[in-house]
Amino acid sequence: MNFDKPIERRGTYSSKWDSMEKAFGLSSQEGLGMWIADMDFEAGEFLQERIRDLLRRRNYGYFSDRDRFSHATAWWMQNRHDWKIDPAWCFTTGGLGNGIALSIQAYTDPSDKIAIFTPVYHEFTMKIRNAGRQVVELPLVKVDGVFRMDFDAYQSMLDGTEKMVLFCSPHNPAGRVWSAEEITELCEFCARNDLILVADEIHHDLVFSGHNHIPTQKIANGVVDKLILTTSASKTFNIAGTRTGCVMIPDPKMHQTYHKLITALNIEPNLFGVELGCAAYSPEGAEWVDQLVPYLEGNYRTFADGINAIPGASLMPMQGTYLSWADFAGTGMDFKEIQRRVVKVAKIAPTPGPSLGKGGETCMRFNIGTQHANIVEAVERLQTAFSDLQ
Ligand SMILES: Cc1ncc(COP(=O)(O)O)c(C=O)c1O
Repeated sequence: MNFDKPIERRGTYSSKWDSMEKAFGLSSQEGLGMWIADMDFEAGEFLQERIRDLLRRRNYGYFSDRDRFSHATAWWMQNRHDWKIDPAWCFTTGGLGNGIALSIQAYTDPSDKIAIFTPVYHEFTMKIRNAGRQVVELPLVKVDGVFRMDFDAYQSMLDGTEKMVLFCSPHNPAGRVWSAEEITELCEFCARNDLILVADEIHHDLVFSGHNHIPTQKIANGVVDKLILTTSASKTFNIAGTRTGCVMIPDPKMHQTYHKLITALNIEPNLFGVELGCAAYSPEGAEWVDQLVPYLEGNYRTFADGINAIPGASLMPMQGTYLSWADFAGTGMDFKEIQRRVVKVAKIAPTPGPSLGKGGETCMRFNIGTQHANIVEAVERLQTAFSDLQ
């Protein structure tokens, strides 16, 4: 797989490239898209072959064996994460966002409180607010430069009426890969406070060398009964456009509640999502990921060196994902000025840190899931935009 090979995404209805003008005032020709969380690489040959297969069928009608993606997910989890799941736990949803929104509807009531560890993927907040629930921000702390959860502090921030916690593992932004001890502490915290734990593990495969993703269920088993696990092949294989995710609910009663809701809403798998998900979760897919991850790690090293060379800026050490987290606090600039330099001067479109909640005030999230040449270009542009600080 040649991840250096550029592909033209402009003019293909790509959110990252073709919505940049509207969101940032940068044309797709001049701007560098580093916001929306997908990658700029060509899809793996095993995915393209599956699409060719579908084309050969020349018919896209109703289909059977609709839980095939659940079985493929079980195979993948066993082979890649040494995690045995029961396909009967699984629902196929219209992506993870959909799975999380449904969990909020299924298990909480309007105006209930839902906790998140911020800064975190901005859609957590949106999903909670869009459902008319209240967000409780539990700020992550930085220890040795990386995010940690601080459960002693969080205990005093709860008032006992919270219902649910949304947990992102590995964490978006910055790619923190949580340890067994941290997940244990989280599970104990949820059990102690009678909180439903929703774990979003969409980035589970994108873990850098020296780190190991631990599925939350492995630790929660026997500690937290109220558990919802969400995963997908969409980030790993860059097939988010197929809008397909997997929601696993081991507890029979909770499973039944979810089943009722998705049946009432008539949520059903999509042929293309199921086919590509099954093609992805395969030995060929595994080989592709094994090549992808070191490439992302190389991008991270180049980007970290480049950002860390700007006086007052620093990139949080990454342990996985392609969503890097740069803090410009040491420049002494306010967010408006940081944004002006990054967007207007460097002509880069990142995700603004403040949109990810407390702790993002002087930060930007840069998506490094792109050709290495784009990372080099981004570094040059950013260093020029802040060159007066040298
Ligand atoms: C942590 C996390 N969860 C969910 C999603 C979105 O998933 P989907 O596109 O399947 O709704 C993203 C996308 O960036 C993400 O980073």
